[in-house]
Amino acid sequence: MKSKLKILMVYSEVAPFSKTGGLGDVGGSLPKALKDMGHDVRIITPQYQSINERRYILRDVIRLQNIGVSVGAETHQIHVKSAFLPDTKVQVYFIDYKPFFFRKGMYTDPKTGADYPDNAQRFALFSKGVLETLNRLHWQPDIIHCNDWQTGLIPYYLKTLYLGNPFFSQTSTLFTVHNFAFQGWFDAKNAAAIGFDTKNRSADSGLDANGGVNFLRLGIQSSDLLNTVSEKHAAEAQSSAEFGFGLEKLLRSRKKQFFGIANGIDTHVWNPETDKLIPHPYNFQRIPEKEGNKRALFERFGLPFKAGVPVIAMVTRMTGQKGMDLVRDAFGPIMALNGVFLLLGQGEEAYETFFKKAVKKYPGRVGVHLGFDESLAHLLIAGADIFLMPSRFEPCGLTQIYSLKYGTVPVVAPVGGLLDTVEPVKPRSERGTGFVLAAIDAKSLVAALKQAVKAFGDPRTWQRIQKNGMRKDFSWEASAKRYVQLYHKCLLLIKT
Ligand code: ADP
Ligand code: GLC
Repeated sequence: MKSKLKILMVYSEVAPFSKTGGLGDVGGSLPKALKDMGHDVRIITPQYQSINERRYILRDVIRLQNIGVSVGAETHQIHVKSAFLPDTKVQVYFIDYKPFFFRKGMYTDPKTGADYPDNAQRFALFSKGVLETLNRLHWQPDIIHCNDWQTGLIPYYLKTLYLGNPFFSQTSTLFTVHNFAFQGWFDAKNAAAIGFDTKNRSADSGLDANGGVNFLRLGIQSSDLLNTVSEKHAAEAQSSAEFGFGLEKLLRSRKKQFFGIANGIDTHVWNPETDKLIPHPYNFQRIPEKEGNKRALFERFGLPFKAGVPVIAMVTRMTGQKGMDLVRDAFGPIMALNGVFLLLGQGEEAYETFFKKAVKKYPGRVGVHLGFDESLAHLLIAGADIFLMPSRFEPCGLTQIYSLKYGTVPVVAPVGGLLDTVEPVKPRSERGTGFVLAAIDAKSLVAALKQAVKAFGDPRTWQRIQKNGMRKDFSWEASAKRYVQLYHKCLLLIKT
């Protein structure tokens, strides 16, 4: 068994360079953990406009200039730059193709909120660009670890266009699905534009019944092994359309090759003791110092500070996945619990409008910041008392884990990674790190919050719950080892 693997990790977002959600956090932290284990780990990601070239010292790589990549009838010349993941020796290659990636948004146009109409072309170019870059680099990875629909064509291309190519004959693929709801589903016109033969709809054409193409499906079908980001969600995704979004049957057909591995967290970035984005660092032995962050939080939202009042916070994409409809429907009873509600998020317009109105309806008690703000996310998670996450589905979820580490007690829905990471507080037990809704509805949401607010009123109980969470180990160590096991399993599949 090889002790040192060559691993290429492909992510459409890598924090701190680029991030719209948890995928970026994972892209910026799992590679580090694998590198620390001694593996040769490299990352390829798109170079978006928002990436600060000077700050992160992106350099041109002479032999990675002018690489011709064909997508459908067109050939595009890409360039590849390189940098290191901050404070590590993990090399990151950025695919620089301005017409596709130099835009205000990563996947959607911030002006309209709609997906870019050429996303199929953008991520087909990216996927093929990854393979062509490896070729130019003469670096033959043992594993290409792909993530989410944006990279789904890589395993597919390896099993079709690049099949028999000796350069990749010793390379296997692992495909990690972070979210089954985003599939990269494109119609026949788009499929044709990226080179699919839309007239041939045979079983191995890669096309679906309508002549369109689904990047996630192709990734799942073509990769050597698969996983999602918690054990619970791996079971859920196979169980019903509610969690598998139409891919449940396919997943069941691959169940022997489909695993669940929980995400870890970057303990350098999310650690209340060393966090540079919060004014008052603390740890589980100095919990009262957390209060300084609560004060700063009220100030940041322009609200009068109230001692002893529970602050309920959310940091989230404002979509159906995150249970925003439940929060909206239960908002009156939530506010009747006499806490303060603070939200940082962006997403669907209807929710944005609702929460803007709530600020006016409950003066001094509701704070809403619409937008994406990394430092405010840290301050909220540090300064709040209760973190609310009533997701309808949650493959893993990172914010509830960050909250646990910061002594901010999570109130979560009984799904996926939330169940795998939050241990319910039970009466007459010393254990428990948070509160879990009995069911996913507005009534259960209010009931769980009520329990949390009651516990908050008893400082001894509250500190015990906080400490239980803060002491848990959510570092990548255990999960990175599980990924290495999967990589070895992948290698065994290569026929020699
Ligand atoms: P998901 O990836 O489904 O959105 P996760 O809990 O895995 O959910 O990760 C969300 C990540 O995105 C966290 O790092 C969280 O702090 C961050 N985040 C979400 N919304 C915002 C926002 N509006 N501003 C800053 N960070 C945000
Ligand atoms: C997805 C999921 C989230 C997970 C994140 C990182 O965005 O919605 O549950 O934590 O990916 O894996």
